[in-house]
Amino acid sequence: MKAAILRMLQAADEPVSGEVLRAALGVSRVAVWKHVHKLREHGYRIETSAKGYLLKDAPDLPFSWEFPGREHRVHFHPVVTSTMDVARELARTGCENFTVVVAERQTSGRGRLQRSWQSNAGGLYFTVVLRPALPPMLASRINFCASHTLAQVIRSELGVFAEVKWPNDILVEGGKLAGMLSEMEADSDRILHVNIGIGINVNNTPSKALPEAVSLRGILKRPVSRKALLVAFLDALEARMAEPLTAAVIDEWKQFAVTLNRRVRIVTRSETTEGIAMDVDARGSLLVRLDDGRTKAVLYGDCFHV
Ligand code: BTN
Repeated sequence: MKAAILRMLQAADEPVSGEVLRAALGVSRVAVWKHVHKLREHGYRIETSAKGYLLKDAPDLPFSWEFPGREHRVHFHPVVTSTMDVARELARTGCENFTVVVAERQTSGRGRLQRSWQSNAGGLYFTVVLRPALPPMLASRINFCASHTLAQVIRSELGVFAEVKWPNDILVEGGKLAGMLSEMEADSDRILHVNIGIGINVNNTPSKALPEAVSLRGILKRPVSRKALLVAFLDALEARMAEPLTAAVIDEWKQFAVTLNRRVRIVTRSETTEGIAMDVDARGSLLVRLDDGRTKAVLYGDCFHV
């Protein structure tokens, strides 16, 4: 109901009368008034006059009713520990493919390799539950697909030249704009779900502890709509995932990659690998030519461009 009221108010330059809303939605005028009241409580500025309701302003919060066609799959929370925790529960209890958990803040946001992810208000923090028909061995293709799609959407929607760094960071002019984390549960031959968690510095100020981090607001010198960015990303991801996830996914990612043909250092808890990043194979491993001439496939780690 809120979605329908909002659509009608958004489409009108003039106030829309309670009677018009009531008739279009098939509810009582009291019900219309109650929903308008609720919307106001959520931060929507809706003026009332003798002529009806006029939407003056809307908060940039990804409420589920802001996602027409997928509102039943979008779960917005003002605060969570981590969207990964909520998404895991939903996935385990059988939620639909492309269910999205999005939060305004996370108290225990997680990064890759057991790091934390600072998640203050203004950023975009979400996890998408995916149920692709892929063998578990090829699950990393989904991460490459998602990071390439996100970089593409940032370029096309915002005109910001986003690039990808192995494995799945999004960079702009070398500064980290977004990070991605994935969690999978699988049988021996079948993925049950892959949850892709993405944190994007949109209108937040990245922590001073991460001097190389950048935000969209910092780059564009204006606030950016998180709702519009999320809708554009979900549309693009759903469209790309409807196609077969062949090894072409990796080739698409490579077109946007800053990591290849340069010297890199890959650090994991147990080892450090340094050499020239030559390629990414069909499983998503980075092929590094070591100084002794051998080539090593590195499946995960923190990648530094040196
Ligand atoms: C990284 O670069 O280390 C990955 C960061 C991933 C952060 C996102 S924010 C939404 C989702 N929930 C989390 O707790 N982490 C991911």
